[in-house]
Amino acid sequence: MNYRELGRTGWKISEISFGAWAIGGAWGDVDDKESLAALHAALDGGVNFFDTADVYGDGRSERLMAKLRNERKEPFYIATKAGRRLPKQTAKGYSRSNLTSFINRSLRNLDTDAIDLLQLHCPPTEVYYMPEAFGILDDLVKAGKLRHYGVSVEKVEEALKAMEFPNVQSVQIIFNIFRQRPAELFFPEAQRRKVGILARVPLASGMLSGKITGDSKFAKDDHRNFNRQGEAFDRGETFSGVDFETGLRAVEELKALSPKNVAMAQLALRWILEFPAVTCAIPGAKRPAQVAENIAASDLPPLPTGTMKKIGAIYEKEIRPLVHQYW
Ligand SMILES: NC(=O)c1ccc[n+]([C@@H]2O[C@H](COP(=O)([O-])OP(=O)(O)OC[C@H]3O[C@@H](n4cnc5c(N)ncnc54)[C@H](OP(=O)(O)O)[C@@H]3O)[C@@H](O)[C@H]2O)c1
Repeated sequence: MNYRELGRTGWKISEISFGAWAIGGAWGDVDDKESLAALHAALDGGVNFFDTADVYGDGRSERLMAKLRNERKEPFYIATKAGRRLPKQTAKGYSRSNLTSFINRSLRNLDTDAIDLLQLHCPPTEVYYMPEAFGILDDLVKAGKLRHYGVSVEKVEEALKAMEFPNVQSVQIIFNIFRQRPAELFFPEAQRRKVGILARVPLASGMLSGKITGDSKFAKDDHRNFNRQGEAFDRGETFSGVDFETGLRAVEELKALSPKNVAMAQLALRWILEFPAVTCAIPGAKRPAQVAENIAASDLPPLPTGTMKKIGAIYEKEIRPLVHQYW
């Protein structure tokens, strides 16, 4: 496992880290025992950074993280998020009293005195024009409840605006073979400002693992079933906003580019690691075997230039017209 520095925190975090949404909920049935085994496997493999949120399984994911911390001695970082507990997403909801109460609840779930990294959880764009919201986070850092904070954004423009607040240490954004626009303007600017980048949805909700087919069935409570058109939250969070049939067609073309003995999920993760602006990818995983496959991407050699070009060409032809200008 290789490590990269996160923003100006001085932390060195695993370039393949762990996304803990699926072990909380909204991805079909999960078993806490297996989820915990996946978390242990991640630590065993050198992962030292975990991304969760207060709303993943209404705290279930955070509580599993607390369990992991209690069961293991080695230090690791937990990033969580706040904002999505609001009954309705309004900028006004990002108030001192709401943020403080969300954060107090996360502290209890995580069984800790201080949150390593708190991210605003895809707030309305207007929040990035409210310095007072970031002032509240500064106060919570001073009060010792947060060590650092960052943002999780939907759009490149929000990322660029968020970085104007000097204490934003990290931006979490969708970045994968199906979502390439962040690399254009945002990556160079984040590097210039020394802001960390957490690449989320790196497998396009599992589609880039190559295992999904036209016959794949998803449980009723799996967002890959109920959010394809953005019925419950931003449609970009499900298969990166790429229409299902088009995505499958592109994956077929990508499969041919995987080097021998390299799983398609590993190709997708390795592709992300080719961008030095990225601090880490945070693939979600429900089982130890998925974790093992994903973390092994860190030890693969860089992808040949020819492969990067071919991936770029598939994006240009199949995917770009569908998604590029939306996020
Ligand atoms: N708004 C936000 O801030 C936001 C939104 C989305 C995600 N996130 C964060 O980003 C993380 C990653 O994104 P994501 O979980 O949405 O999507 P993802 O990482 O692209 O896909 C994860 C899913 O792919 C499947 N998978 C994982 N490894 C695999 C492998 N090696 N082979 C085959 N299938 C594999 C698993 O589902 P199955 O086994 O069920 O197929 C897993 O749950 C989340 O966990 C969360 O921490 C944040």
